[in-house]
Amino acid sequence: MPVPTEQLMEKLVALTKRRGFIFQSSELYGGINGAWDYGPLGVELKRNVKDAWWKAMVRDREDVVGLDSTILMHPLVWKASGHVSNFSDPMVDCKKCKKRYRVDEIEPEYETTGKVPTQCPDPKCKGELTPARKFNLMFETHIGPVAESAAKTYLRPETAQGIFANFVNVVNSTRIKVPFGIAQIGKSFRNEINPKNFTFRSREFEQMEMEFFCKPGSDDQWFEYWVEERKKWYAALGIKMDKLRFRAHEKEKLSHYSKATTDVEYLFPFGWGELEGIANRTNFDLRAHQVGMKSAGRWKGEDLQEFALTADLADKESFAHDRAVPGEDAEFNAGKLSYFDDEEKRRYIPYVIEPAAGADRATLAFLCDAYDEDEAQGEVRTVLRLHPRLAPVKAAILPLVKKEGMPERADTLFRALKKKWPVVFDEAAAIGKRYRRQDEIGTPLCFTIDGDTLKDGTVTVRERDSMKQERISEDAVARLIEERLEG
Ligand code: GAP
Repeated sequence: MPVPTEQLMEKLVALTKRRGFIFQSSELYGGINGAWDYGPLGVELKRNVKDAWWKAMVRDREDVVGLDSTILMHPLVWKASGHVSNFSDPMVDCKKCKKRYRVDEIEPEYETTGKVPTQCPDPKCKGELTPARKFNLMFETHIGPVAESAAKTYLRPETAQGIFANFVNVVNSTRIKVPFGIAQIGKSFRNEINPKNFTFRSREFEQMEMEFFCKPGSDDQWFEYWVEERKKWYAALGIKMDKLRFRAHEKEKLSHYSKATTDVEYLFPFGWGELEGIANRTNFDLRAHQVGMKSAGRWKGEDLQEFALTADLADKESFAHDRAVPGEDAEFNAGKLSYFDDEEKRRYIPYVIEPAAGADRATLAFLCDAYDEDEAQGEVRTVLRLHPRLAPVKAAILPLVKKEGMPERADTLFRALKKKWPVVFDEAAAIGKRYRRQDEIGTPLCFTIDGDTLKDGTVTVRERDSMKQERISEDAVARLIEERLEG
């Protein structure tokens, strides 16, 4: 029974709070905008999303390795990567109601026309807007006790740069050869002008990013390959494919580092929203750090906006990907961040394909996708139809009544299963109510221990989605859970 789109978000937000998936950060103090805490069930769900990503992107492959780099990095990393100069959104303020807007959100044609609206989009206000100003999204912080400029750095706005900065370390410390990837999951921070749509646009969030290094010239093929791989990942976790789309960016709208980008978008109740960007970043980043590292000895803590890198190739003009033709400039191809190709007996700077996904956005998409209402025994039943691999609780063990040895028997089964999976034991309330409690959090299977269990060792298994019940042997319970998790 589909839930009306306009009600879905409100219902989902209420459920996630009521059942301990997601809470507003610092709620006791009135909350903080754009920051969310994951409760006991939410942390399991999000961990399952991240584990599924890690399994598909690292564990199941032989050509991708993992990394866990720091949130705080050398400030020059952000100068070289282009974030100091370019990682900003244009914003305007309303002089009357004081609301702040991202220009591209209130004027969708802004990127192509450059037109900046002059009137507040709030129909009740219609006040005059200020001219557009660039607002850098990086959070500044200071390293050490003195807040002086030399110690200023940023909380990373993406995990990707930690991967590029470790490219040489990984090549030198492993036997991995191009083509190969480095994957990382971790927190990123952006001082978003307008955090909104629940966890969708937050100021602190987690990314799941992989940089896949390949030979220049093979990049277009690898790009197509990764678009397909990522499609398979979402499909395998049961997302409704009619709510997922892959949108290729028009050439004119590509970021300065990208040769091609395809966004993975999900149809949220508030409209289409990006879950992931898959980009052909060319050799932009490795080249940029090759320039950046040469300037490290010269930088004495000057303002990073003013400071010029040794050869400031980080600007669009001189450093666009279409200038970075393989073999075009020998100096770059022989630099520290180049790669020696054993087979070809030559050095080059690898091209990079980057599937960059958001763990919070994927979690939100799976939640929206799973939320459903139907009818059970004449009442509305709320159910999260999560894939068993994502479900925070894999099974519930329920003694039918609190007597006749049923709780003890159920407890033995519960303890055996708990060694392998997150399962729960629940003996409070009528059985129908207990089933409903599990449906609401997406538990795929419930096992009920009753009088017959004590006689013949069978239990009732009740399925979340169909609500069908059948009897199986107690010995078959673990295998059934295992099958569901593999499916
Ligand atoms: N390294 C490339 C990069 O960071 P991005 O498109 O800016 O690319 C990748 O970010 C993913 O990170 C997005 O597709 C989204 O899922 C997630 N993300 C970005 N900003 C976010 C925010 N403010 N809140 C939640 N997730 C965000």
